[in-house]
Amino acid sequence: MTNTLTWYGHAALGLETGGYKLLIDPFFTGNPAASTSAEAVAADFILISHGHGDHVGDAIAIAQRTGATVISNYEIAGWFEGQGIAKTHGQQHGGGFKHPFGYLKLTLAFHGSALPDGSNGGNPAGFLLTTNDSKKIYMAQDTGLFGDMKLIGEEGLDLAVIPIGDNYTMGPADALRAVKLLEPKVVIPIHYNTWDLIAQDANAWAERVHKETKTQAVILKPGESYSL
Ligand code: NI
Ligand code: MN
Repeated sequence: MTNTLTWYGHAALGLETGGYKLLIDPFFTGNPAASTSAEAVAADFILISHGHGDHVGDAIAIAQRTGATVISNYEIAGWFEGQGIAKTHGQQHGGGFKHPFGYLKLTLAFHGSALPDGSNGGNPAGFLLTTNDSKKIYMAQDTGLFGDMKLIGEEGLDLAVIPIGDNYTMGPADALRAVKLLEPKVVIPIHYNTWDLIAQDANAWAERVHKETKTQAVILKPGESYSL
């Protein structure tokens, strides 16, 4: 079984695992880094990490078109239900659930979560997925550095996806410290170079990761994939 993660630019990800298509934080319309469009992507499940517009993105339109199930925290799942989305699933921090594509746990994230219309988006989250072939994938999405990343790392991560853009999330220095806490086999940076405000030199960051840790940093361009 192959797991393929695609970075669509900003924090938008696709994950194909065991024949299921997952979209994470599908922000395409208005995303200057987007490598595809809301009309072109397929989805069985849509995962939303928090309520901000650059993460909720095109989720409503994609869920309406594809019939995908939206998975998020309880408050955001309820908000999608209120927007007429038929299939939603709410979880909370530390809570895992065996979905058809694997066991998904919501993790801590230090960030905000207000929804685009000002509704309460609960608390922001990251995702820790154990695929059906036992691969562990952590998608931190928007967060600052926090010490409990060490606990997430103790699960034995095959892949971690973490932000390096600074200003709204961890910057390169804290993201390097995050790699040291998470100790993943592979790390992929996201949430940078979408706008000038979060411009970063990912290759320079990868060099530091290789110098100071045993983790392999993989730098993707929007639209590129990594398989594990
Ligand atoms: Ni955010
Ligand atoms: Mn964001």
